Amino acid sequence: MQLSILAYSLYLLLSPTFSAAAPPIAQDRCRCLFGDACWPSADDLAELQKQVSQPLLQPLPPASPCYPVSHPSGNCDEIHQQWTNASWRADQAGAMQGENFETFVFSNGTTSACFMNTSLGVPCTQGSVPVIGVDARNDVDVQAAVNFAGSHNLRLVVKSTGHDLSGRSTARGSFIVWTHHMKNITFHDTFTPDGAPTSETHDHAITLGSGVQWQEAYEAVNAKDRVLVGGLSAGGTVGAASGWVLGGGHSVLSPSFGLGVDNALQFTMVSSNGTRYVANAYQNPDLFFALRGGGGGTYGIVTSVTYQTHPNLPLITAIISTSTNSSTPNAPLQTLFSELIHITPSLSDAGWSGFFSLAPDPSTGTLGLSAFYVMLNGTIDQANASIGPFFSSARSLAASGDGSLTVQTAIITPVDSFFTWYNTFFPQASSAGTNGALGSWLLPRDVIEANPDEVAQTLLPLTELTVSMVGGGAVSKVNPGAMGVNPAWRKALLHTIFATGWAEGTPVDIINQLVDGLKQNMTTLRALAPESGAYFNEASLFEPDPQRTFFGDNRFKLKTIKQDFDPIDLFVVAEGIGSDDWDADLVCRL
Ligand SMILES: Cc1cc2nc3c(=O)[nH]c(=O)nc-3n(C[C@H](O)[C@H](O)[C@H](O)COP(=O)(O)OP(=O)(O)OC[C@H]3O[C@@H](n4cnc5c(N)ncnc54)[C@H](O)[C@@H]3O)c2cc1C
Ligand SMILES: *[C@@H]1O[C@H](CO)[C@@H](O)[C@H](O)[C@H]1NC(C)=O
Ligand SMILES: *[C@@H]1O[C@H](CO)[C@@H](O)[C@H](O)[C@H]1NC(C)=O
Ligand SMILES: *[C@@H]1O[C@H](CO)[C@@H](O)[C@H](O)[C@H]1NC(C)=O
Ligand SMILES: *[C@@H]1O[C@H](CO)[C@@H](O)[C@H](O)[C@H]1NC(C)=O
Ligand SMILES: *[C@@H]1O[C@H](CO)[C@@H](O)[C@H](O)[C@H]1NC(C)=O
Ligand SMILES: *[C@@H]1O[C@H](CO)[C@@H](O)[C@H](O)[C@H]1NC(C)=O
Ligand SMILES: *[C@@H]1O[C@H](CO)[C@@H](O)[C@H](O)[C@H]1NC(C)=O
Ligand SMILES: *[C@@H]1O[C@H](CO)[C@@H](O)[C@H](O)[C@H]1NC(C)=O
Ligand SMILES: *[C@@H]1O[C@H](CO)[C@@H](O)[C@H](O)[C@H]1NC(C)=O
Repeated sequence: MQLSILAYSLYLLLSPTFSAAAPPIAQDRCRCLFGDACWPSADDLAELQKQVSQPLLQPLPPASPCYPVSHPSGNCDEIHQQWTNASWRADQAGAMQGENFETFVFSNGTTSACFMNTSLGVPCTQGSVPVIGVDARNDVDVQAAVNFAGSHNLRLVVKSTGHDLSGRSTARGSFIVWTHHMKNITFHDTFTPDGAPTSETHDHAITLGSGVQWQEAYEAVNAKDRVLVGGLSAGGTVGAASGWVLGGGHSVLSPSFGLGVDNALQFTMVSSNGTRYVANAYQNPDLFFALRGGGGGTYGIVTSVTYQTHPNLPLITAIISTSTNSSTPNAPLQTLFSELIHITPSLSDAGWSGFFSLAPDPSTGTLGLSAFYVMLNGTIDQANASIGPFFSSARSLAASGDGSLTVQTAIITPVDSFFTWYNTFFPQASSAGTNGALGSWLLPRDVIEANPDEVAQTLLPLTELTVSMVGGGAVSKVNPGAMGVNPAWRKALLHTIFATGWAEGTPVDIINQLVDGLKQNMTTLRALAPESGAYFNEASLFEPDPQRTFFGDNRFKLKTIKQDFDPIDLFVVAEGIGSDDWDADLVCRL
């Protein structure tokens, strides 16, 4: 009874945004979407409800409480306060971290969205937010959800936190499996993968449910005086055992201990026919290959990941930030940036990892270069000997006294542990809820060494540039064909990202112009290292040859594994393995 009311009220809420007169398109060639005649009935949904542990989800766009006439009314002030809060977004099945992924743009340019700014006068509609789904708490919930979505031929999305930078964890008219509440954390003093000889033991491993987020994982390992190779974001809301690792997973600790995938010992996964697999080097090694970097949302629903942990070591951190009086790179900034690119290989050899960015100051619009590095287990003398000269260069450029470049911060300081460093520099911050798009490329060490000036000249004009020095070291020591992750990572030293953004409600033609500029700049960036590729998790949605760009020569084996484990193609994501068999919305087979 309750369910049929639910289904009916959903219909009332959402039907205006779906064409009621749509022809029944649910032949096998196309997925069945909400509003289509084939959509599961209230009785079907009631059957599913009996099989899962939680009430079925009815995700809504996060701003919907601001529209009391069409939606259950709520506190719009709270929406305004929390809009940019990454945790608040991760805690909602209907919210993505990037607002633009909640919006749907029809091929005729019309938009379905639910904007926070009610003054824009746009009615709140469901956009690309899923319609119904399962709040999974255990493998049985996941199995029931997958069987349901498969048998009804639904457009399935898998979501943990909604951080996906290509919007892969949401889709219009879809059915969602939300793993956010799979928060189990189990520490193993010694771990032997299932099926391995008993002599194979890994000390201090940790198993994380696929809803665990980095902040929670870091707290758990820190309590055992260990560290994990993990991601960095304000508040630590990225998923620790979901999209991050399934796409590769880079970390400031990667040059010391490898990528996330290099640290994964075992996965559990539910496939599209509801089978639960354990994947490791001994059982289902092909699946293990694919899950280690072959892309999230592509082979099945991962329910847990077991990682190797590492000793807790002290580190040195080096932070420098500069500003200029110009919104374009002036001469001293160009000099300083070029020097940084020139010394990058030697900084890597000295044991540094970290990030640098070139971005306009939000209040003045003038550019500055900032760098934020870590040397694990190093001494102050080693740190100063390797990065000190760069700090000195910045100071002397500033000391020329004309005010065109100033050094705001320059610190080289010891920190007792990764956890202290993380908590000091990555507190909760207002960073989510924006609209934007990225371009990125992995730059191999040999290209940086051979053409540092060309690299610097190409990167300088890119706006909102963030470069992660997370390759090299341990990352480069793994055989590129050992697992699904992009082989380009094994030669890369720098992961370069640039971004463009816009305000909500920006007309689609303006957004398209920004995206065209991004595409042009991608052409220039790729040309630096055409044989390289890009990181699946932080990349452009507009790659002309995404399979090659993201998976290199591993793409062929990945495709075979995908067909074996997901013969019905239930798991398809933008630019992922197998997506080339589908149309742009991933609704109809080509
Ligand atoms: C603020 C921010 C900081 C970041 N920092 C880093 C960083 O330091 N290092 C780094 O490598 N990357 C980083 N990223 C990129 C990050 O790796 C990707 O956004 C990644 O997709 C996040 O995975 P998620 O599970 O948290 O997100 P989601 O959006 O929930 O999922 C991402 C993808 O994985 C799939 N997926 C989710 N759960 C499952 C599951 N249980 N089984 C199978 N598939 C699943 C989804 O379908 C989707 O395709 C960052 C991103 C942001 C927005
Ligand atoms: C952000 O959201 C989380 C989760 O909803 C909440 O606990 C936290 O207090 C919020 N932060 C702020 C600054 O309001
Ligand atoms: C654009 O397409 C959508 C979906 O088919 C339709 O509802 C809308 O009316 C169209 N808008 C215009 C201006 O044609
Ligand atoms: C909301 O939209 C109105 C109308 O376009 C605009 O004037 C206003 O600046 C916007 N408010 C915010 C906070 O963006
Ligand atoms: C959580 O882990 C414990 C072992 O630590 C296990 O007994 C339990 O079944 C797990 N729960 C889920 C939901 O996976
Ligand atoms: C699920 O698929 C696998 C691989 O295609 C197959 O071996 C297995 O028998 C299937 N299981 C069920 C329950 O259909
Ligand atoms: C850390 O540094 C100490 C002292 O230099 C050294 O003995 C130890 O081997 C180093 N540990 C690692 C993991 O590099
Ligand atoms: C660090 O290095 C710089 C330049 O290389 C030098 O001037 C400075 O004295 C050094 N500082 C320390 C504490 O060693
Ligand atoms: C920046 O400062 C320099 C030196 O004072 C000056 O020549 C230049 O015009 C300034 N640029 C801008 C954009 O203000
Ligand atoms: C693209 O490059 C041009 C300069 O060539 C620059 O003005 C523009 O801001 C860049 N766009 C992005 C998104 O980086």
